[in-house]
Amino acid sequence: MNKKLVIAIDGPSGSGKSTIARLVAQKLNYTYIDTGAIYRAITYKAMQDGVNFEDEAALVRLANGARIWFRGDRRGSNVYLDGKDVSEKIRTPEVTRNVSYLAALSGVRELMTNLQREMGRNSGVVAEGRDIGTVVFPDADYKFYLDASLEERAQRRYEELVAKGHKVVLGEIADEMHLRNSLDRGRKIAPLKIAQGATIIDTTMMSIKEVVKAVLENVSR
Ligand code: DC
Repeated sequence: MNKKLVIAIDGPSGSGKSTIARLVAQKLNYTYIDTGAIYRAITYKAMQDGVNFEDEAALVRLANGARIWFRGDRRGSNVYLDGKDVSEKIRTPEVTRNVSYLAALSGVRELMTNLQREMGRNSGVVAEGRDIGTVVFPDADYKFYLDASLEERAQRRYEELVAKGHKVVLGEIADEMHLRNSLDRGRKIAPLKIAQGATIIDTTMMSIKEVVKAVLENVSR
């Protein structure tokens, strides 16, 4: 494949977006952009700095001053915030709880959308998030929408957090995911929705390998 393609993958948390996007990017030797990690990094910074999540102007200022980039390692990519690797710190339940509020702010989204476009400027890209096919890369060559049942998505996140040593309760994770998803779908700006022309893949009963295969088959067609 010679042309540098833009592949957009959207979907709710736990649908498998990150895992699939990372593997597809590795296969194609493309840049992988985990846009959720960008929103998480800003959220983490706001928490560290003690910024009130209702103070939109302060959050936009903070986002404007943040330097965020990805650096690849063997597992895919690490997230750097102002020179420090925050890959693990941005995945805590506390950050997860706050991120939807920050991600609903238009001023923050505008900055982050520009950053994401800039990151994808010079190479083929696999970008994943909530508004990739609708807002960030509406002209993407390929668009996918990954989904799975709430039970399955919660189970996946539960296993991920337990493996990292967090003490969590499955039912609480399901409740939080449901709430967060409603916020992401219901917000006014760049809500999570299926982009026009997107291929929908329900990953509930699929293995990671099967989903990667399905995406790559579409792309090589
Ligand atoms: O994919 P994730 O769970 O790491 O995303 C974290 C949050 O960031 C999620 O609640 C919604 C938000 N987000 C967003 O609003 N737009 C994106 N393109 C990606 C994530």
